[in-house]
Amino acid sequence: MDAELKEYSIQSLVKDLRRVVSEASDERDILNRVRPLARRAALSKDSWFEKRFYGTDPEQGFGVHLLHEEPDHALAVFAVSWLPSRGAPPHDHGTWAVVAGVEGPEKNEFFERVDDRSRSGYAELKKIEETVFGAGDVLAMRTGQIHGVRNESGAVSVSLHIYGKNIQHTGRSRFDVETRTETPFVLKIEE
Ligand SMILES: [Fe+2]
Repeated sequence: MDAELKEYSIQSLVKDLRRVVSEASDERDILNRVRPLARRAALSKDSWFEKRFYGTDPEQGFGVHLLHEEPDHALAVFAVSWLPSRGAPPHDHGTWAVVAGVEGPEKNEFFERVDDRSRSGYAELKKIEETVFGAGDVLAMRTGQIHGVRNESGAVSVSLHIYGKNIQHTGRSRFDVETRTETPFVLKIEE
């Protein structure tokens, strides 16, 4: 790989994200243009990664580190570290999302909602796909896409997450496939 590509700060990423969002015609366009930026940032971790980003919350199963957000919470960038054999339940984001692998494999399961959304707090999900991604691999998710994450490796994994808006401010949901429930999904953010 071009050595130049390995230098990419979060500040440079954010500058590029601002340009993409101002130029893009729609969400699909944003996702297509953010993909290569996320990959470049993930592969340039020496430019921005700090040891403290390995920090995890044992109760939550993962650690969430905010690297950037705009004053109105737009363009939120997080480093997320996942404990072995832990993960996040099926959830949506309330905005577009692009996730890139930084270290270690992470399993992603994708779901589709199959109920008619007429009952508050009730949701039926059907699993549609599963994929494992590693360093430099990128997942782009439109608003409303539901996925669950699991680190099935024996070591802490790390991924870089970019959202159209900070997911603590989008009113997004988590889902329980067994009990068919939808509840608010609020994260614990590391200091
Ligand atoms: Fe997610």
